[in-house]
Amino acid sequence: MTPIQTCILKKDKNINPIWIMRQAGRYLPEFRNIRKNNKDFIKLCLNEKLVPEITLQPLKRFNLDAAIIFSDILMIPYGLGQSVTFSKGLGPKLSNIELNEILNFNSEKFTSALNPIYKSLKITSKNNLIFNKDLIGFVGAPWTLLVYMINNISPKKGLKKNFFDKKKMFKDLLEVINSFSKIHILNQIKSGATIIQVFDSWAGLVEEKDLEEFIYAPTKKIVDYVKSLDTPVICFPKDIKNYKEFTNYVKPSVLSIDYSIEPSDILNDINIPIQGGLDPKILLKDKDQIKKEALKYINIFKNHPYIFNLGHGVLPETDPKMVEYLVNIVKNN
Ligand code: CP3
Repeated sequence: MTPIQTCILKKDKNINPIWIMRQAGRYLPEFRNIRKNNKDFIKLCLNEKLVPEITLQPLKRFNLDAAIIFSDILMIPYGLGQSVTFSKGLGPKLSNIELNEILNFNSEKFTSALNPIYKSLKITSKNNLIFNKDLIGFVGAPWTLLVYMINNISPKKGLKKNFFDKKKMFKDLLEVINSFSKIHILNQIKSGATIIQVFDSWAGLVEEKDLEEFIYAPTKKIVDYVKSLDTPVICFPKDIKNYKEFTNYVKPSVLSIDYSIEPSDILNDINIPIQGGLDPKILLKDKDQIKKEALKYINIFKNHPYIFNLGHGVLPETDPKMVEYLVNIVKNN
């Protein structure tokens, strides 16, 4: 059994496996090298030669316990016919959706548009570098995908004034996203993904009274589905206020925490394995501070099954040497 599976399934407290969100990405010069010749990000995510290579880049450098397939949560809207482009400064931009078209979208057309991702997973899972390690597949949580699909751009750049006026269509859209997410999850698992992570980057936008309808219930459907396929599922409900309530309702295999929460505050509230937490900005500091903060998480979770990770993606300005330093600290403590 891989270190992460042992940590999750056997609730082993004595090992701290590690992987890092966005571990394949812009902080690596070898990624930037590929990216500069591949300006179309969606096309890059569909490149069966380059995706396995990028996915494995961090494993060539660091002693990590998992690879995460190089892809994007916005591949689902893309597979549903929405155009998705990325530009410097703005980030992702999606075209307007036609709900009626999406409601009747053909599932074979969806799978065939995303087929290169599944081929890349198959190729990656056969590589020696992944031996005794996990290959993580992922989806955006239904809420976060809905946000991008309706808002067209990242809420970081502004939420449409009338965004919450469209609540009537939220229900239908969440249903469509749910059924296509399940297809994408099944295809990823069939192609070699051994764990699924659900990224809910915009869970923090939802008011308390709407949490059950927009976050808990739709996420639970996804979690139940992944579990029914005998695959562990990690949930990352970023900026959610009440992790205990989320965990008790949704019951993922692992809860991934962000850096807004003091880890000692939730230790006794969460009875499942925990992942992550360390502020990605710590990796921009000196080695002493990195060591101090990393040991803080390791010590707080010394009697709890814990997968080391950050509280959000590694920042592009991070020095890869500091990532190496962090991985070695986790492996030696
Ligand atoms: O973690 C990994 O290494 C796997 C690959 C991965 C990417 N995106 C690659 C990527 C994963 C798991 C994601 C998830 C994702 N994508 C999320 C959820 C996690 C989070 O960050 O909150 C979200 C919200 C997206 C949507 C998205 N994709 C945004 C907002 C951006 C722009 C980011 C930015 O800072 O400009 C992307 C692009 C993206 N996805 C990049 C990478 C490596 C950067 C692409 C580039 O310009 O080279």
